[in-house]
Amino acid sequence: MNKILVLNHKMNMLYDDVYDYINQLNNISTDMNIIICPSYIYLTDFVNHSDWGIGSQNVYHEANGAYTGEISTTQLRSIGVEYSLLGHYERTKYFHESEVDTNQKLKACLEGNIIPIVCLQAQSNDDKKTLTNKLDTILEDIDHIEFIIFAYEPTDAIGQNKTLQIDQIEETCTFISEYLQNKYHTRPNILYGGSVTNDNINDILAIDTIAGTLIGEKSSNYQYVTNLIDQIEK
Ligand code: PGA
Repeated sequence: MNKILVLNHKMNMLYDDVYDYINQLNNISTDMNIIICPSYIYLTDFVNHSDWGIGSQNVYHEANGAYTGEISTTQLRSIGVEYSLLGHYERTKYFHESEVDTNQKLKACLEGNIIPIVCLQAQSNDDKKTLTNKLDTILEDIDHIEFIIFAYEPTDAIGQNKTLQIDQIEETCTFISEYLQNKYHTRPNILYGGSVTNDNINDILAIDTIAGTLIGEKSSNYQYVTNLIDQIEK
């Protein structure tokens, strides 16, 4: 499978810049599978005009009803969105979401035909038991994982300009991969996210157990993205 590049714009970009961004990314030539996660309000523009996969940055677990301010998987599907980020670190930090919430959203995505990109947040020095406990909670009552994309995101590397050492990333992603393979007999898709830059992206993508990377805030700058792709294609 081609490697995946998820672009999480967070709460960045103004409407005036949306079509410039879409057009610049449509000109990119790469074998990578790019998934753009813009703000909700631009999803329709991206779905209708971008050549790449489009995801939301969050979703609610109920299909419809009186949940002011929330968006459901059925609504996302109704406009052609295919993916959704779940459980991003900033959802926990600012909106107090837990792994139990992520589990509910994950079930909603699997039922609602949205491919979930599940963020596994951890401190870089978390021990293996802590990681597996988090995974077990997120995956409670989930029988198969082939439609799930996981993103290992050490919280101390997100938005910090401080990536983990390559061997540390490899060790943790390989551990997660083996743990999930033992449990589900499926090789999981695991991305790495957290201060991925021009300097480290090729080393990260070269890791066998890594299916791609997740780029945060800087990914709303098309120049930054095109430079990254140039670096990968070199
Ligand atoms: P960053 O964010 O690339 O800005 O470190 C990663 C993320 O949003 O998960």
